[in-house]
Amino acid sequence: MLYLLDTADLDAIRTCCEYYPVAGVTTNPTIISREKSDFREIITSIRSIIGPDKMLHVQTTEEEADAILREAEKIRETVGGKFFIKIPITREGLKAASLCKSHGIGVTMTAIFTQPQALLAARAGADFVAPYINRLDNIVSDGVRVVEEIVNIYRTYGIGTKVLAASFKNAEQVHKVSLTGADAVTINPDLFDTLIYHPLTYYAIDDFAKDWEAVYGDKKAGELLEKKA
Ligand code: E4P
Repeated sequence: MLYLLDTADLDAIRTCCEYYPVAGVTTNPTIISREKSDFREIITSIRSIIGPDKMLHVQTTEEEADAILREAEKIRETVGGKFFIKIPITREGLKAASLCKSHGIGVTMTAIFTQPQALLAARAGADFVAPYINRLDNIVSDGVRVVEEIVNIYRTYGIGTKVLAASFKNAEQVHKVSLTGADAVTINPDLFDTLIYHPLTYYAIDDFAKDWEAVYGDKKAGELLEKKA
């Protein structure tokens, strides 16, 4: 399962890419508008931080298929690299997905809440579908179950579209999605820290350091292996 970052916060992207195995960045109009800055500047800066080989998923702001295609072409030209246009699943969105694919543009069909939406998106040629876990959980539905069934439907029909689960609020949701066989998750930067945190890890690290110091003092392993002149 790949991990993507669901943010347009440049500092956070820089930091996460330095420390975590980030496969790409996803944005949506809400995430972009939170930065209150120039759109071109934001998306080109994200690309220059992550480089051309990591995925960049940027959502369309258009609603009609031809307009979505034109916008996708402009964004692709602007950001280059491994780019996917995010298109919400609507009738026009499905048409746009096929159009974009026929123009060689990667497609992520987003705002997926049901299994039939995901199957139709796949048949329209989407590379990824993005089901929204927490928003489903918020309405007493079960986001993880929806992802699990999408994964199973794709397996049943031998569909290559990948499941990029989105909208997470906690580590448990991410863990449960990882059990479904989903291909990727997109999470906010703080969730990376939460996912690796466990107090026993810190206790273990402290114990290792104390035991080492009791015998070798403040000398590090590398220092003890240095050749004497
Ligand atoms: C990503 O594709 C989605 O836009 C995003 O994860 C939605 O997350 P939210 O429900 O926290 O807004």
